[in-house]
Parts: sequence; structure tokens; C-alpha cells
Amino acid sequence: MRIKGKEYRTIWFENNIVKIIDQTKLPHKFIIKDLKKVGDAINAIKVMEVRGAPLIGATAAYGLVLSILENNDQSFLKKSAENLINSRPTAINLKWAVDRMMKKLSGVNSDKILDIALIEAKEICQEDINFCENIGLNGLKIIEEIYNKKKDTVNILTHCNAGWLATINWGTATSPIYHAHKKGIPVHVWADETRPRNQGANLTSYELNEEGINNTIIADNTGGILMQRGEVDMCIVGTDRTLANGDVCNKVGTYLKALAAHDNNIPFYVALPSSTIDWNIKNHKDIPIEERNSEELSHMEGLDEEGNIKKVQIYPEKSNAMNLAFDVTPAKYVTGLITEKGLCEASSVGLRKLFK
Ligand code: MRU
Repeated sequence: MRIKGKEYRTIWFENNIVKIIDQTKLPHKFIIKDLKKVGDAINAIKVMEVRGAPLIGATAAYGLVLSILENNDQSFLKKSAENLINSRPTAINLKWAVDRMMKKLSGVNSDKILDIALIEAKEICQEDINFCENIGLNGLKIIEEIYNKKKDTVNILTHCNAGWLATINWGTATSPIYHAHKKGIPVHVWADETRPRNQGANLTSYELNEEGINNTIIADNTGGILMQRGEVDMCIVGTDRTLANGDVCNKVGTYLKALAAHDNNIPFYVALPSSTIDWNIKNHKDIPIEERNSEELSHMEGLDEEGNIKKVQIYPEKSNAMNLAFDVTPAKYVTGLITEKGLCEASSVGLRKLFK
């Protein structure tokens, strides 16, 4: 997708260096950052210079490439794999990507290991691009159907950033929106601000602006009244881990949007590549929900008058704050899952039909 008219991917490999867009500086500054060691990749995931389930999976894959370049030793590689998996707990794509890489790399002691790692990391990225493009084509049919009935702009509410910045290209939740826009269907996006890291405002709105897509940022609690007023035609969100029974773990606040959508008979879709499906965990209570530093709530970053990024405290100094990063939307509130293989019911029957 484009930034200032130039095509980018969120991650690429050049001269033995992994290049990323530092997402902690967006939308104010566009900075390409170099990751040279596996520790840089781990840190980039932890501090959210890269974030979004598919992108952190891809970064972990390239992190193992960096690990081999740094020290081509199997025990170092194993430790790197463990540290990468533990860098963030909730998005299943991280473990999925590391396991996939380690399947190819474990026990390989020849010089070929670097080539094998690079081919696999690139394949993980290319596959994600293809999957996200297909998610877009499958989701486009739903938007088209609404447009054909309504004959007016389709209003889509989304939460957090599940756009191309959260993947390698296209995005998951935004891919149907990009495809609809390219087809000439008028769309407007309500972008939930998504406190505390403001991915909706800083990333979703930013990337939609760059593609010329009409959007409005709203405070996280605004979706309910917009739905009651008939100003939301559908919701599409991404996910960090979807269970085989269709329960959806995503950025905290997603559940409340699904409840409001259910109460107002508004379709609530979740877009995901199959790398985000956790086939093992049976009960959503067993999903590790990340609790991040409460400073993400008590402090905020923005541009000062001189155009510098500045952090300010917004909470009373003595107040406690709690920062749970994800929640779970039960499958019964999900109208459907939009995957690379097509649309399905959020249930084990639905998922099994697509993914035998
Ligand atoms: O904390 P983040 O920014 O990594 O959370 C991202 C999300 O919750 C996204 O909705 C999710 O990863 C879907 S990715 C296409």
C-alpha cells in the first residue's frame, strides 16, 4: 500500500538487515528502522514498533534469520526462538511463525541454514500478502451486497488497526475496504481511536488517508450511539487469535462493539488469515491476555508546538491504572469469519468446512 504515493510493505530484508516502519512514530514521523540482531527484533515486537498479529509473526521469522547471521549455532537459535515467542503473548501468529521456521531450521548445521531461513521468512510474508488479498476479495462481496441494497455510502466501523500496517500488505479488516474502494463502491470508515495506544487514530485513519479513503476517528465509546442512529452498516475487525470454536480474541474493546452490534442487528465480521487460528486451545479463558505497562494509559504522546513528539502525564500521579490489551468476543456475536478461503460461520463446523 502507499505512503505519500510510494508503495511499501511493512517489513523487508536488504543487505543482511531487516527493515521495518517504526509504527511508534506514526502518524507524525515516517521512519524506517534497521533491525540488525535478533534482540532488535524482540525489542521491536515488545515496544510495538511492529505490531498486529501477522506482522509480529513475520518479524519473528526474520528475527530468526538475524539470529543465524549473529551466531550460527543451534542452541543460540533455540534460545532466540523461545525469546521471540515470549516477546508478546496473545497473537498466535508469533508462535505459529517461529514453529514454522524452526521446523525447517532445527538440526541444520550446514551453511545452507541462512538460505533456508531467508526463503521461509520471505514465504511467510508472501503467503500473508496473498491471504490478505483473498480476504479482501471475499469480504468485498459482503460490502457489495450492502451497497446494492442501500445504493449509498457503506459505513463500516473498525477497531484497533487491522490494516496493512498490521500485516505485510492489504491488511485483514481493511482489505475488503480497499477492494471496495478500488471497485468504486463508496465507503466511509468509522475508526475507533483504540485507547491506550490509539492504533485506530494513529494507524488505521493514517493508512486510509494515504489511500484516499473517507474516514472519521471516533472515541472508543461512540460506536454504540452511531449504531442506534443507523450510521453503521457493518463492523469488520481483525483478530490476534481465533479459537476453533469461533471465539475471537482481539484488541480490548472489540467485545463491547460486538455486543452493541448484536443489540442493533448490525453484522459484525472478523477478518483473519488461517495463521491466526488456534486449533488447540478449547476454552477462551486459557488464552494468554497481555497486560501491558499502565504507563500506556497514564501518559500520552503527541506533537508539541515545535513539531517534536512529546510524552505527557494525563492521570493523577497516585492513581492505579490497569492495562489489559485484549478481550474475547464469543462466537455467538460474530456474524461470520472472512478468511483467505472464503466466508464461514464462527463455529467449529464453519471453520472445519473451510480448513479440513
Ligand atoms: O496491540 P496490537 O496493535 O498488536 O493489536 C493489534 C490488533 O488487535 C489487531 O486488531 C489484530 O492484530 C489483527 S491484525 C490484522
